[in-house]
Amino acid sequence: MTSAPYTTTNAGIPVASDEHSLTVGPNGPILLQDHYLIEKMAQFNRERVPERVVHAKGGGAFGFFETTEDVSQYTKAALFQPGVRTDTLLRFSTVAGELGSPDTWRDPRGFAVKFYTSEGNYDLVGNNTPVFFLRDPIKFQDFIRSQKRRADNGRRDHNMQWDFWTLSPETAHQVAWLMGDRGIPATWRHMDGFGSHTYMWVNASGERFWVKYHFKTDQGIKTLTSEEAARIAGEDADHHIADLWNAIERGEHPSWTLYVQVMPFEEAATYRFNPFDLTKVWPHADYPLIKVGRLVLDRNPSNYFAEIEQAAFEPSNLVPGIGPSPDKMLLGRLFSYADAHRYRIGTNYAQLPVNRPKSPVHTYSKDGAMRYENVADPVYAPNSYGGPRADTQRYGDVAGWHASGEMVRAAYEKHAEDDDFVQPRALIREVMNEAERERLVKNVVGHLSNGVSQPVLERAFEYWRNIDKEIGDRIAEAFQH
Ligand code: HEM
Repeated sequence: MTSAPYTTTNAGIPVASDEHSLTVGPNGPILLQDHYLIEKMAQFNRERVPERVVHAKGGGAFGFFETTEDVSQYTKAALFQPGVRTDTLLRFSTVAGELGSPDTWRDPRGFAVKFYTSEGNYDLVGNNTPVFFLRDPIKFQDFIRSQKRRADNGRRDHNMQWDFWTLSPETAHQVAWLMGDRGIPATWRHMDGFGSHTYMWVNASGERFWVKYHFKTDQGIKTLTSEEAARIAGEDADHHIADLWNAIERGEHPSWTLYVQVMPFEEAATYRFNPFDLTKVWPHADYPLIKVGRLVLDRNPSNYFAEIEQAAFEPSNLVPGIGPSPDKMLLGRLFSYADAHRYRIGTNYAQLPVNRPKSPVHTYSKDGAMRYENVADPVYAPNSYGGPRADTQRYGDVAGWHASGEMVRAAYEKHAEDDDFVQPRALIREVMNEAERERLVKNVVGHLSNGVSQPVLERAFEYWRNIDKEIGDRIAEAFQH
């Protein structure tokens, strides 16, 4: 016999039985006064919180980020000073699938990093792709609905997906990426991560820079073909969760090297395309990668629900030395995530162990459901009783930019080379080789062969011809027979 502890109720009261409800005689009825039975049933009925509206299926691990280089000329952020080591949490995910959906479906992967820095939590909530489908947050909800399920039969629907994509040419770059080999990573360890958006860095002298983040996998890139992915999806829906977990248990700690591209603040206005457009990458020839440090995952969660399901990432968690950019998608996201957490987890989600900062918290926020740490008096500011005061001397500067103009609903003003198809064309022509292009065509044809109506199909041929005439023709040809 093991020396297991005795069972208690949630209130710590020893229980009389793990097996038998309290009944009148062995054959019942059951008594309402069996508080333990009621507690078990009621607790069970409340075990789930809503799954994330996107990126529901995922997994993650803890580790650290170490700044190995000196990038202090670009940012004063405490975590990016030379030699600083910061605890981190990284959660990976698919976008459209629900909890329990296969890890190997073709989809972008989330790459959400929480850095527990000495100046508060910094969340870099990115993907495994450097670009995204859209450039205005007002289209995000429609886009996601087109990727999820129909109203009538509750099924996913390729017609709906291609209908949206072909009516939204700004999706071309991300769709070309998604339909290529990298659309299905072999494991989370074998893929890169990107901040995707342009962010602002501010150094100790107040100089501002625009940056893009690239986490390059140290394990090398590995991908799955559509056939391999489909087979694995049937065999083990949690394939990527298992891979990460097992690697860490074996002591193989995956790591990524962080690089940034840095654009001088003034160059943004005249750069050949809009550097804040999330559908574009910055060519490395224009802005080379600058090494920053290394991210290592070395600890599995001890409780998936508490530490992964309840993890709350928010792009609005920006620390001194780091700010947003005029990317409208990013600005929309600054609202969306904390709002989602208040609904999904509850208003005091930031107090949960996985979300709470490892630096001191001196906030005036107070009360609310499930709060267990409250502010002491005084509960208001300003006050003359020694309550916290904003340190405007150190933290008063806003990481911002000059803005003025009439209020409008409009596309970004065009830069000289802004175009939806130039970069996806370069991806297909200059980055992919012929074997990769062959698989791209096969993947698109396979995807389009699944319930896409004739008018949408015609638009899809046109969409691909706009990206690359030859690839578009090859896709269209496959439907001639
Ligand atoms: C999750 C909104 C674009 C990456 C989420 C969630 C919402 C959301 C509401 C669920 C949060 C939760 O319940 O925990 C939006 C909106 C977007 C947008 C409104 C555009 C306007 C993006 C982009 C990226 C991204 C461009 C990547 C570059 C992620 C990731 C997660 C997520 C990685 C999962 C975070 C986690 O692991 O908990 N998004 N999103 N999203 N989003 Fe976005």
